[in-house]
This record gives sequence, structure tokens and C-alpha cells, in this order.
Amino acid sequence: MTAIVDAELFIGIISGTSMDGIDCAITKLESGRLCLLASSTVKYPCELRDALFSACSSPTISLSELGQLDISVGKAFADAINQMLDENQINSGAIKAIGSHGQTLFHLPTGEHPFSLQIGDPNTIAERTGITTVADFRRRDMAAGGQGAPLAPLFHQYFFHKRGACRCVLNIGGISNITWLATDADSPPTGFDTGPGNVLMDLWATRWLDKPYDNNGEWAASGDVHQELLQLLLQEPYFSVPSPKSTGRELFNAIWLEERLSGFRLVTPADIQRTLLELTAVSITNAVSESKLANSAPESELLVCGGGAYNGLLMSRLQELLPGMSVSSTQQYGMSPDWIEASTFAWLASRTLKREKIDTGVLTGARHPVILGGVYFA
Ligand SMILES: Nc1ncnc2c1ncn2[C@@H]1O[C@H](COP(=O)(O)OP(=O)(O)O)[C@@H](O)[C@H]1O
Ligand SMILES: [Mg+2]
Repeated sequence: MTAIVDAELFIGIISGTSMDGIDCAITKLESGRLCLLASSTVKYPCELRDALFSACSSPTISLSELGQLDISVGKAFADAINQMLDENQINSGAIKAIGSHGQTLFHLPTGEHPFSLQIGDPNTIAERTGITTVADFRRRDMAAGGQGAPLAPLFHQYFFHKRGACRCVLNIGGISNITWLATDADSPPTGFDTGPGNVLMDLWATRWLDKPYDNNGEWAASGDVHQELLQLLLQEPYFSVPSPKSTGRELFNAIWLEERLSGFRLVTPADIQRTLLELTAVSITNAVSESKLANSAPESELLVCGGGAYNGLLMSRLQELLPGMSVSSTQQYGMSPDWIEASTFAWLASRTLKREKIDTGVLTGARHPVILGGVYFA
């Protein structure tokens, strides 16, 4: 019997809220199964990263600046893709499509005119790579009444679902989100953004260590949790909003932190770092425990991805706070924590090209299934 070969290559590309780098993945989809062929992370040029940070933290930029940032990010994404193809000696003609998430500048999922702004002009990406580009994944969901986020749970369900196993996938990026996988492969997963992942710890490490992050949580480990401050931070109303919910830097940013630290001037920077790590750990585990009750699962696994999976202290706090779950990196489940988000958008692009309507209702609150993303043909 002749095997039916239906392998197609898709590239996924994203820069997350941490802006630590542009993550690209070349994936192969064959008979419905995805595998990672190659991956790379490319840093933004310093000037561009600074401009993006300032656009996010004080969003009063001019239309001209915004337009130029959009093109600059598109160019940076296209350069990252071309470089990855060169390094792996893959011809652009072999790639069916790119799924580009872009760079989120602003995410406002509630109110009269909810919107989510991802920049990185897909016309520029298609033009410079010669590859059909699928982008703008979030806004159709919002137009259908959804929050536009989180979308990663769809991929978590596809890739990590195992019949009979009770699994929760935790992505600790700048913001953290969880996905409870449905035990039945065809049922939708549930999930939401839990709040800060690394974003506040990164802000504090940048200020006091002049480093983008606290490697392995070592600086945090030198301090102690300040319980009174922790309790104040946990009073943030976002933590008790019912899902669907999503959040970003618009809420959890330097201003949010400064306002809460104003009464704690005598606390040492290391104790504050340790307290911020505890805030991430406790807000995540509260969210996991509360949603776990709803799923009434006795034994379960927590699969951790995103850069936070490399923070040893955070991982051990998660395990201590969730004694009934086994906590480990997604590396143990077949994919490095670094490439899940990029793979998500490669996989979503394949579904967009097939014009598949995706049911995001329980995740985002969308009223009906929609085709996510716009297509910019090569
Ligand atoms: N070795 C490490 N130790 C501690 N934290 C790390 C380490 N490696 C990565 N991180 C954290 O992960 C973040 C990047 O995670 P990522 O999943 O790329 O987030 P995003 O999706 O927001 O870009 C870094 O900013 C840092 O906070
Ligand atoms: Mg990142």
C-alpha cells in the first residue's frame, strides 16, 4: 500500500509580552501530527526594543511613530524568518505559510470598543519572505464577542491531550495563562490568564540588577517573602474576576507595582523580588486550584512552559503549593517550553488556510466559532 504523504511546513513567529526575543519555529504537519523541525530566537535591535517598551508603558505615541513601529517589527520578523531558513538550508518555497502573532502593544478586551493591537505588518513579512502570511489572529474573535485571548489553549489541547490523563498546561510568559485539557480529544479546553508571570519580576530585576531577568530565581532566593506586601498585591481585583478573562502589561506594569510599593519603602529589593515571585506562584496556584475543583480531578499533572519554566525557585514553589499535582516542564512531554507559543501560531495558520472555524467560546467568550486570522498571500 502506498503511504499518503501530506507533509506541509508552517512557520510560527511571535514576540511575547516579555519582548525578550522573537521566537520562530519551523514545524511539519503530517497526517494531523505536528513536529518541530527547527527553531530560533532573535533579539530585537536595542533601539526597536526600547521604542516598543516605551510605547507599551506610556502609550501616547504619535500615529507616525506607531505606523513606523508596525513596519519595523514586520521587518524584524521577516529578517528572523529569512535567517532561520538560511541557517537550516530550507527554501522559502517549501513553506506553506507563516503564522505571525506579531507584537502586542495594547490589549483592552472589555468596555464599549474592545480591541487588541498586535503590530508587525504582515504585508512586509509576506513581501520580504515570499511566503503567504497569516496574521491578526485575535481580532476576529473579539469581533465575535470574545476577549481575543487566550488562544494558546487550543494548541495545548491538540498537542498535549492524552486520553484519560488529567492535565493542566501552565504558560509562564510575561503574563501567565493556564489551560485545563479536556479529557476527551474533541471537547474544547478551558483556560484563562491568571495574571503576572515574569513581568513584575523582570521589571524589578531590570531596575536593581540591570539584567533582563533574575536567572533561575537566584536573587529572589536571597530574600524573604514580605507577607503584608504579598497580601496587598493579592488584593488586585483581576484575581477574583471570573473567566473568561485576559490581561497584559496595560494592568501589570511599573505603575501598578509602584502604587503598591509606596507604603513599603523599607523593604529590601531582594525581599521585594522574592515577594513578586511568591505573587506569581500563589496567584497561579489559586487559579489552578479553583478551576481544578470545577473539573473535580483527583490526580493531575501540571505541564509548565514559557520562560518561567527555567526559574527553579518558581517551579519548586509551584510544586510545594500544589502537592496533589506533579509539576514538570513540557520538555518531559515532548516539546521544549520555548517553542510552544510559536508552534501555536504555525498550527493556527494551517487551520486558517483550511478555513476552519474555531470554537473559542469557553476560552474567550466568543459567541460562535470563527475563522481566526487574515491571509496575506505570497
Ligand atoms: N533562566 C531563567 N531564569 C529565570 N527566568 C527566566 C529564565 N529564562 C527565561 N526566563 C523568564 O522568561 C521570560 C521570557 O519568557 P517567554 O515565555 O518568552 O515570555 P513572553 O511570551 O512574554 O515573551 C524572561 O523574560 C524571563 O523572565
Ligand atoms: Mg518571549
